[in-house]
Order: sequence, then structure tokens, then C-alpha cells
Amino acid sequence: MYKSRIAGVGHHVPEQVVTNHDLSTMMDTSDEWIRTRSGIQERRWSPQDTGTSDLAYEASVNAIENAGIKASNIELVIVGTISSDYFFPGVSAQIQDRLGLNTVGAFDIKAACSAFIYSLSVADQFIKTGMVKTALVIGAEAQSKLIDKSTEGRDVSVLFGDGAGAAILTRSDDGNGILSTHLHCEGRELKHLWMEAPGTSPNAWINNLELDSDKFKPIMNGKEVFKNAVTRFPEVIEEAMAANKLSMDDIQLIIPHQANYRISQAVAKRMGVEMDKVYSNIHKYGNTTAASIPIALSEALAENKISKGDHIILAAFGAGFTWASAAIKW
Ligand code: UT7
Repeated sequence: MYKSRIAGVGHHVPEQVVTNHDLSTMMDTSDEWIRTRSGIQERRWSPQDTGTSDLAYEASVNAIENAGIKASNIELVIVGTISSDYFFPGVSAQIQDRLGLNTVGAFDIKAACSAFIYSLSVADQFIKTGMVKTALVIGAEAQSKLIDKSTEGRDVSVLFGDGAGAAILTRSDDGNGILSTHLHCEGRELKHLWMEAPGTSPNAWINNLELDSDKFKPIMNGKEVFKNAVTRFPEVIEEAMAANKLSMDDIQLIIPHQANYRISQAVAKRMGVEMDKVYSNIHKYGNTTAASIPIALSEALAENKISKGDHIILAAFGAGFTWASAAIKW
């Protein structure tokens, strides 16, 4: 068995900054409510002519450059997203084409906030077994296109933002790299965080619905999501540590999916970890779903928060419900 390592990471966010104050001019909300409930101060929204694939492409170009490889070295493309440009095919096909990757395999993973770790895990298996030597793994979202920007949708829309992050995974030659991944799902809870349409269920197909139907808007039972998140994050982080015989003292940085600063605080408190070990950039970007972990990883590296030999843990929880972790020796 081979081992995989992350050779380079990159990210891209749209230029337009939307502050909490900006939102309060569109709907009945306030900077105070959003800040105190979530820690979010601003997020990015992409322009009308920009789709998830455009953000994903820019992030990929950065990751390729940071990894010091050529795009032609990539043998597999996996994109985590729930906001693909088209109903089908996935964003991965667009990226595969724009990077000029000839006929290499490409597919999307729709595991919402956990999708980057799910994608990383799949790419890791391909590299471990020798199927490919280099893979491009992306988390990308243009959530601003899906959210309901009226007062009716405020409980969801103030939390989400747009962005993309990407990682190049290659075969490790020094024994460092991805130590383990753990993936989980509890599908019976899926209606606590979902967007029903458009879909092929009789209740979700376009012929049967008015286009402004609520079924086309993301719906969230915030309290239920919060309650599950603060349990599942510690569980899956502890699972990663146990699998690798690591204690919290061995971990230099935890990069959680950026769902809510209060969730990160509650997780840190439950685990007895200081917040300076838990990376956060939610104040700048809000919740970017599949993109939040690779964006955070990219920024943590740029801020020199990760050094060679460090143990880091990525962890996510979100729609599905899905949750996951990855332990990495950098
Ligand atoms: O990636 C994973 C996905 N999502 C999450 O992890 C989110 C998990 N959940 C949460 O983060 C929190 O539950 C929220 C931030 C969504 C909400 O925080 P909360 O402290 O649970 O607030 P709440 O649901 O108790 O809402 C309190 C009030 C309600 O008014 P009433 O019924 O008490 O009069 C809401 O209608 O706040 C109202 N409200 C708002 N007010 C101003 C809901 N959204 C807003 C808003 N602005 N944007």
C-alpha cells in the first residue's frame, strides 16, 4: 500500500464582500443577531455570470501552482459540491475540460459540508492502492445563487457564502501524509437540512411545482443541526486520534468545517481544547459548505500555522446528516 500526501493547496473567493449590514438592507436581520449567533461578519457572493465551476477552476490553478506540478500530472478529479453549475453533469467534468486533462476520470460528491473530506478520502484510496499517483480534490460552492434573500429565508441565508478550495494529492515518498479518514452518515435525519427541488421525486419535479416554490430553497432546522454537530464533531475527531494512537497534545491544529463559531467553541470546550488550536475564518466567509475546509487549510498554510511533521485533523458535519474526519501528518 502507498500513502498519499497533500502536495499543495489553493483557494479562491469572489471579490464582492457582503457585510451583515448589507444583508440588513435586504431582509429583517441585524449585524448583532448574525455576529452573536454565528460569529459571521461578512461573506462573499459571486457575480451573476460566475458559477461554482469558475470558483473551483481558480482554486485548482492555485493548488496546482502551490504543489509545483503540471496540470497534465493529474489523473483524477473529484469535486465536492451541492451547488453545481448544471443539474448534470457535475462540476468535475467542467474542471477536467478547462484544465485540459484529456480523458482522466472526474466525478462529483454531494455530501454537503462533509464533501471535501469524503472526496479526500476517495482520492486517498485511489493513491493508496496505486490506481493513480496524483489527484485534484476540490470543495466549491456558489451558495448565494440558492439562498432565499428575503426575511422568510433569513435563518439560512445569513449563514452561507461562496468560495472554493482545492488540494493536490500525490503519492508520499517520506511516510508523511494522510493517516486516516473516517466517514459517517445518518440519512434518517436528512430533512433537518435539505433542499427538496429540483429532483425526480414526484413532489420535487419542476412540472408539478411553481418555480418560486419553497421547495427550491434550502431548509434548515438550526437547533437540531447545532445539537448533532456538537456531538458528532468531537466523536469523529476522537475516532481519528484513536485510530492513530494520538492524544490531543500530539495535535497542532484542528480545522473544522466552518459552520458556526459557536459550534467550534462548544466542540473545543467539550474536548478541553484551547481555541487557538481550532482554526477559524468564518467571520470573513460565513459557511461555504464543501469549500470551507480547503479554504481554511489554504489560509492556515499561508499564515504558517502548519509546519512539516505537524499532526492536523480536519473534521466536518452537515447535511445528510454526514460527518467525517481526516488525520494528516504534514
Ligand atoms: O454546515 C452545517 C449547517 N448549519 C449549521 O451548522 C447551523 C447550525 N445551527 C445554528 O448555527 C443556529 O441554530 C442558528 C445560527 C441557525 C440559529 O441560532 P439560534 O440561537 O438557534 O437561534 P434561534 O433558532 O433560536 O432563533 C431565535 C430567533 C427566532 O425568533 P423567535 O421565534 O425567537 O421570535 C428567529 O425567527 O431569531 C430569529 N431569527 C433571526 N433574527 C434575525 C432567525 N434568523 C434570523 C436572522 N436575523 N437572520
